Amino acid sequence: MGTPIIIAIDGFSSSGKSTMARRLASRIGYRYIDSGAMYRAVTLYALEAGLITSDGTIDEDSLVTALPHLQIDFEPQADGTQHTMLNGIDVEDEIRRLRVSNAVSPVAAIPAVRHALVDMQKEMGKTKGIVMDGRDIGTVVFPQAELKIYVDATAETRAQRRFKEMVEKGAQVSYEDILANVVHRDHIDTTRSESPLRRADDAISLDNSRMTIEEQDEWLLNQFKRVTGQ
Ligand code: DC
Repeated sequence: MGTPIIIAIDGFSSSGKSTMARRLASRIGYRYIDSGAMYRAVTLYALEAGLITSDGTIDEDSLVTALPHLQIDFEPQADGTQHTMLNGIDVEDEIRRLRVSNAVSPVAAIPAVRHALVDMQKEMGKTKGIVMDGRDIGTVVFPQAELKIYVDATAETRAQRRFKEMVEKGAQVSYEDILANVVHRDHIDTTRSESPLRRADDAISLDNSRMTIEEQDEWLLNQFKRVTGQ
């Protein structure tokens, strides 16, 4: 498959970027990293350790002190997916719950949390051959990435997708709550002072509101082929 490159995929929550990223990685034999899962794992830790009060106040000092002791890995599964591991424990289901979704944006806005995770992400990209998705991958983590994609879709489309996903998993959730969570997170993610979500100048935009997963796969594979000359 030629010289390995770095592929950075950024966009709003539930924009379908993780699905696209994961499917491309498996098709071209690259490693896939879901950077959002890493922020979610740190948030789960903070919740379990009692570092986030019911009114949402975060004990930042204690969280920052704990960061060097948090080990986050991804463990490949037999079905081709991978599970997020926090200090050796499989937290994949836990980190997708609304409890974590509702608390993650303020945690991801803490500069020391971002610095620690960005360092880990840069390390993961050292050997290239990686597809990473998130909010700041093309702007901060891998500004030198050979291929950068910025995925967009309306808040309603994204809320519908997440709602469907959660209902399929058996969760008792309402569409209105999910939409409110998506809109709220968009606001925090784009207005925070530390590396807010924005399109890198050299990123290619994709609005996938009306695309099927297969159409997205084709589009992305063509971008990869174009950049690598294959
Ligand atoms: O993509 P997601 O919904 O799983 O992301 C969870 C949260 O983490 C979201 O509020 C944005 C934040 N995040 C971030 O700030 N930077 C990243 N590279 C990835 C996610």
